[in-house]
Amino acid sequence: MSHRFPRPGQGSSRLSGTEATMKQSAGRLGLLFPNPVLVVGTYDQRGEPNVATLAWGGIASSGPESVSIAVRPSRYTFEALKRTGAFTVNLPSVAYAAEADFFGMVSGRTIRKLEATGLTPVHGEFVDAPYIAEFPYNMECEVVQSLDLGQHTLFIGEVRDVKIDETLIDEEGNPRWGEAKILGFDSGMRAYRAPGEVMGDAFSIGRKFISS
Ligand SMILES: Cc1cc2nc3c(=O)[nH]c(=O)nc-3n(C[C@H](O)[C@H](O)[C@H](O)COP(=O)(O)O)c2cc1C
Repeated sequence: MSHRFPRPGQGSSRLSGTEATMKQSAGRLGLLFPNPVLVVGTYDQRGEPNVATLAWGGIASSGPESVSIAVRPSRYTFEALKRTGAFTVNLPSVAYAAEADFFGMVSGRTIRKLEATGLTPVHGEFVDAPYIAEFPYNMECEVVQSLDLGQHTLFIGEVRDVKIDETLIDEEGNPRWGEAKILGFDSGMRAYRAPGEVMGDAFSIGRKFISS
C-alpha cells in the first residue's frame, strides 16, 4: 500500500509512556487547538453590514447542518443576532489575516469595518446577513437556538447555503481547504497560523489499531 502522506509518528513528536506522565496542571483552561477564524457578518439596526472575528465556534451538527458561535453580549454583533436571527460565517484566507484581526479589534458601533478595509459585502441569498465577497468560503446561517453560558452566549445557526470560490471546489463538491489556505487561530500564542501539513487520510490511518 502506498502512503501519500507521512506515516503517523514520522516527523511528529511522540512521547514515551514515562515522558507522558510529566504533566503539570494548568487549571481551568478553556482553550483548544486548532481554532478557526470565523468572521461573522450581520446587519445592524440601520441596515449597515457589520463583521466581527470570532474564534470560539465550529460545526455543531452535520444534520441539519449547523454551526455554533460564542458571542459576548457586549458585542455589537450580539444585538444584531438577536434582532435579525441571521448571520454569515466567512473564512478568510491567509492573505486577509490583517483584515480579520482588525474586524476583531474594533466595534461596528463606531466604525464601518468593511468600508475601512475596502472589502465587499454581498446580501445573503437565503438569510438577512451580509457575506464577504473576497473571502473564499461563506456560510449563510439562520439562528435556531441560543444558550446563555455566562461570558458567552452560544448561538446555533442552521446552514441555509454555502458560497465557495469555484477554484476551490473538487469534482465531488468538497472544499479544497489546502488550496484555499484558510487562516487559523492559535489561542495559546494569540496568533494567526497558516494551515499545516496533511498527516494522513481520515478514517484510514487509524485502521492499524483495529483488530480484525
Ligand atoms: C482572534 C480573535 C478572536 C475573537 N473571538 C471572539 C469570540 O469567540 N467571541 C467574541 O464574543 N468575541 C471575540 N473576539 C472579539 C470581537 O471580535 C471584538 O470584540 C469585536 O470588536 C466585536 O465587534 P462588534 O462589536 O462589531 O460585534 C475575538 C477577537 C479576535 C481578534
